[in-house]
Amino acid sequence: MIYIKNKMKIGGLEVEKLAKKFRTPLYCYSYEELYKNVINLKKILRKINPLICFSVKSNSNIKILKEIKKLGLGADVVSIGELMKALKAGINPKKIVFSGVGKTKNEIEYAINKKILLINAESKNEIALIEKIAKSKKRKVDIGIRLNPNTDAKTLSQISTGKKENKFGVDEKTFLKLVSFIKQSSNLNLKCLSAHIGSQILDNQPYLKMLNIIDKVIKKTNYQFEYIDLGGGMGIDYMHNNNKFDFKKYSLNIQKFLKKNNSTIIFEPGRSIIGNTAILISKIIYIKNGFKKDFVILDSAMNDFMRPALYNAKHKILPLKKNNTKTKKIYEFVGPICESTDKFSTIKKFQKLNEDEYIAICDVGAYGTSLASNYNVRPKPMEILIKDSKIKIINKRQKLSEIM
Ligand code: LLP
Repeated sequence: MIYIKNKMKIGGLEVEKLAKKFRTPLYCYSYEELYKNVINLKKILRKINPLICFSVKSNSNIKILKEIKKLGLGADVVSIGELMKALKAGINPKKIVFSGVGKTKNEIEYAINKKILLINAESKNEIALIEKIAKSKKRKVDIGIRLNPNTDAKTLSQISTGKKENKFGVDEKTFLKLVSFIKQSSNLNLKCLSAHIGSQILDNQPYLKMLNIIDKVIKKTNYQFEYIDLGGGMGIDYMHNNNKFDFKKYSLNIQKFLKKNNSTIIFEPGRSIIGNTAILISKIIYIKNGFKKDFVILDSAMNDFMRPALYNAKHKILPLKKNNTKTKKIYEFVGPICESTDKFSTIKKFQKLNEDEYIAICDVGAYGTSLASNYNVRPKPMEILIKDSKIKIINKRQKLSEIM
């Protein structure tokens, strides 16, 4: 996204024209950004030569998944629905891994039938169930065990997953016991150690700590894991101030790790692939004078984009047309929903805004539409993708009649 003569453009198209044509709230994705993210990631990680499994929970739009498939990625799924979508998008089952603490019998059966690469199990009882199902099908099923490395990811507590108080994975002691158990099973084939410590991580230190713990645990098992799945979590620069995750450093740390461990690395990135590829275009319905600040009331709300309300997450807001003014007022950008957390951002010194103008909430490609809901009986927003300066409608605006 760039400004040309003060007008925001994506793929050469003027964003305000898109807003007027398709109405708002409107998610607008840039294929160019998606392509760049995937190519850059592959380039930086080429010495590791990993299997990159896109985390479908971050964006499960089938048209996006199809583009991701064409770019050669696999998928990380956490439900039968995500698995079905990944398969429908044409992703090779041998590039699909299935994580999650609560896989049901039905989900495990489906995953086994589809012969996916790995089921990453998260508890003793889940492993027992997978074994039982595998036995009844007279199959030997490839699985991983998720280790909880008790590592602080130094991110928002709500999206931290790798500490011992979190529900994810198993502790070291249990891990070692499970390795011995699976070694003796004739229906399970232990192929992978997996870990995922959290999301929107900007610092390399937690990952280094995770790698050291994994290394230590592998030595204790004395077992050759074909795959080490390091999960996702690599953060993005939401504030546009060059606070970026250093992939090169991570890659070097992993290369060192691989000198001691001869395994194929799996990554499960979501946000770092899709996060910065989309904006949510919104129209200003009213500007309401409040105590010490003005409320800019948008037609987008927390049901369209949940991250600020749910995690107090910060996202840049930009005008579609710059007018080179600066107001002395504080603007609070809010939605129309009847909850005080239905607000996107409070900004000092924004340009002067007027009703009926448009703004864009930035970097909403990850955990944007995948978290959208019909709260307040609001239809889900429309999504478009700009590819080669052409507009593709990748999700129609939901009709009120569909949710009556
Ligand atoms: N692998 C596993 C096992 C995960 O649990 C997750 C995310 C990922 C991969 C992908 O993480 P990413 O690369 O996207 O950070 N809704 C929250 C984020 C929740 C993340 C849950 N797990 C948000 O909007 O920040």
